[in-house]
Amino acid sequence: HFFQSKSLELKGKTVVITAGPTREKIDPVRFISNHSTGKMGYALAEKAKASGARVVLITGPVQLTAPTGVEVVKVESAEEMYNAVLQFFASADVVIKTAAVADYRPKTAYDHKVKKQSGDTFIELERTKDILLELGARKGKQILVGFAAETDNVEEYAKKKLLAKNADMIVANNVKTEGAGFGTDTNIVTIYKRNGEAVPLPLMSKHEVADKILHEISVLLKDLEK
Ligand code: CTP
Ligand code: CA
Repeated sequence: HFFQSKSLELKGKTVVITAGPTREKIDPVRFISNHSTGKMGYALAEKAKASGARVVLITGPVQLTAPTGVEVVKVESAEEMYNAVLQFFASADVVIKTAAVADYRPKTAYDHKVKKQSGDTFIELERTKDILLELGARKGKQILVGFAAETDNVEEYAKKKLLAKNADMIVANNVKTEGAGFGTDTNIVTIYKRNGEAVPLPLMSKHEVADKILHEISVLLKDLEK
């Protein structure tokens, strides 16, 4: 049995990956968040590192250990994630936005615990920055990869996001499908590409999905070098 060296398809490239959920503070004891566990993003970080890249992992709060050799930036809110991503954007060859970023945050974050009131509504929300959209508008040489977790009309929404955010690839899944989505070790995704191609993948581990995504990215990077 021969020792086979891992192919270093991303050698010399800087890959920035965002992972996990964001937390939007309500007060010192409460926040708004989502079910993201970070598994897909951490799998991508591990595989990108193994492919020879410099990897920056910008992560929301998750219960995972970062892969060895990866630069880790811990963030909580969408705003913090935005600032961290922008800091690394100029030096990035690839940005993969796996994170489930909150779309809204409380208009006011209180420094004291808020007591319940007699009225029937509470908490005004405002939009967070759409990080991928902002990156798309600033894009130079970078390859931008977004994710789309949907419950219906997956293809339509994925293609819309690809164009609206000026991304090169959107990795979409239906979170209602068994074996796909939040918290699982597997996923069933379709990769929608800028050139109109769609690459549907069968049920596989998130590590295998990561390999497929990184391979598609390396193909795009090679095209850029031509
Ligand atoms: N995204 C982001 N910043 C946000 C919201 C989303 O960078 N404030 C990124 C996600 O990381 C993901 C992609 O945009 O890579 C798509 O996220 P998604 O939530 O599916 O799409 P939205 O544009 O937020 O639209 P909606 O939630 O209404 O489907
Ligand atoms: Ca969203």
